[in-house]
Amino acid sequence: MKIALIGSDGQLGTDIFKYFTDKKMDIVPLTQQDIEICDKNACSDVLFSLKPDLVINTAAFHIVDQCEDEVAKSFEVNVEAVKTLAQVCLGTGSALMHFSTDFVFGGYEKKTPYTEDDCPSPVSIYGISKLAGELTIRYLLKDYYICRLCGLYGHAGSLGKGYNFVELMIKLANEGKDIKVVDDQVLTPTSTKDTAEKLYELIQTGKYGLYHLTNTGGCSWYEFACEIFRLAGLNPKITPTTSEAFGAKARRPAYSVLDNKNLRAAGIKDMRHWKKALADYINERKLLGK
Ligand SMILES: NC(=O)c1ccc[n+]([C@@H]2O[C@H](COP(=O)([O-])OP(=O)(O)OC[C@H]3O[C@@H](n4cnc5c(N)ncnc54)[C@H](OP(=O)(O)O)[C@@H]3O)[C@@H](O)[C@H]2O)c1
Repeated sequence: MKIALIGSDGQLGTDIFKYFTDKKMDIVPLTQQDIEICDKNACSDVLFSLKPDLVINTAAFHIVDQCEDEVAKSFEVNVEAVKTLAQVCLGTGSALMHFSTDFVFGGYEKKTPYTEDDCPSPVSIYGISKLAGELTIRYLLKDYYICRLCGLYGHAGSLGKGYNFVELMIKLANEGKDIKVVDDQVLTPTSTKDTAEKLYELIQTGKYGLYHLTNTGGCSWYEFACEIFRLAGLNPKITPTTSEAFGAKARRPAYSVLDNKNLRAAGIKDMRHWKKALADYINERKLLGK
């Protein structure tokens, strides 16, 4: 199977490329310099020349607060470009794997894990644009994997955001900052390394569809930060706060733990608990000399 990987130097893209290469997959890495997904001609030229069996798209505009001000750009990258990719995939006969987010849910009406059957209710421009991207693919294609992810962290760091939450917390602690973290938004922190392994398993099944794909368990961002500091042996001054007091521009889900029901139905075991994955990540950082 030949795979074209868009966003190969991003946080998730880096771990997908590494894991799939280790598994001897025929995977072509594409950075934004190789393919700009907002450029229809570039998408068409690059993908028609490769004719992959599967296109994996990790590219997105996902700086959540910025999306509130840059609505047109949110829809250009997260919807219009996704439509282009879906149309090119139709032409090349490729399947499309695309990533969405827990932010398609609001978490104000429900406090138990969301399955793929739950009705989305995004509360931000980012969430709305990602949901529109999902629907566009489902409207145009049959051969797709749409995977909703949550709270990603990986050693490459999020290129779009310039950091990931784990690295940001450790940086603030090392700088001796007083740290305030919201305690009223519940999620599942998820390792990009674990995600890449499950994506590989999913592709082996050939079962297209919509999937929730996260580590298991759930916690608030405050609890996530406390666990990072415990594992990293740091002891900063950290205070829980509320979303209202924190005052971020975009509203975030109050609760967005995802039940990976469709993954289990495809015969794939649940991912490990988020605390185990985080412990491995913190140990690997130490080995990397960070
Ligand atoms: N990060 C999270 O916590 C999180 C949570 C849930 C879902 N997700 C979803 O997971 C996916 C991957 O996230 P990530 O954290 O790996 O993101 P990332 O580190 O920002 O990586 C995105 C990659 O896409 C490339 N890219 C961005 N815009 C592009 C464009 N217009 N054309 C071509 N390439 C472009 C980036 O290249 P440049 O850096 O050169 O622009 C980068 O290589 C996204 O769909 C995101 O919405 C993320």
